[in-house]
Amino acid sequence: MTGIVVAVDGPAAAGKGTLARRLAAALNLPYLDTGLLYRAVGRRVLDAGADPRDAALAEAAARALTPADLDRTDLRGPMADMAASAVAAIPAVRAALLDFQRSFGRARGAVLDGRDIGTVVFPEARVKLYVTASVEERARRRFLELQGRGVAADLSQVEAEIRGRDAQDASRPVAPLKPAADAILLDTTNLDAEAAFAAALHLVRGRL
Ligand code: C5P
Repeated sequence: MTGIVVAVDGPAAAGKGTLARRLAAALNLPYLDTGLLYRAVGRRVLDAGADPRDAALAEAAARALTPADLDRTDLRGPMADMAASAVAAIPAVRAALLDFQRSFGRARGAVLDGRDIGTVVFPEARVKLYVTASVEERARRRFLELQGRGVAADLSQVEAEIRGRDAQDASRPVAPLKPAADAILLDTTNLDAEAAFAAALHLVRGRL
């Protein structure tokens, strides 16, 4: 399966990560969670006590990123989510992260998940999935995930945060969140993780 690129895009908390990781294992391809790159940049800026909308600082953070940054355990949570989304709206940050993502995918093929894999990073990807679910269902899943990790959360607050991040990701001028014209849409609102994976694998295999 070497050399094949599978793009998995979609809004926050749609279950793309789990799905993409499982697809990669099933297809024997490397996997890259590109959201982690933006999260790690946002984290670096927050650590410096700065505003994640500061373009010069965020670009410097993106250029200085190391693999160890991606292993940090504090890349998830409301602050990290919003910081990632803020730095992701800065064109110079996106440009700084582009080469890494392309080299990763070109080396041996890959499954990559994110917001702009099928539209910008790999417009030539063999298969493009756009995974979505209703905002209420995505909020419910994220809420349960937080509870499972022992993090106190409020469902309506989680939903508001997801709506805010969707709006920010979809409205930015550079690489906004949107399905590629040739993406296959997969709505997982009424599918559990197992059924979503089975449907995705079926769709992907049909395009290989
Ligand atoms: O996928 P995840 O929720 O981890 O992504 C965090 C943030 O990073 C997103 O809200 C989005 O703003 C940004 N992102 C992006 N492009 C990608 C992946 C993530 O802009 N390819």
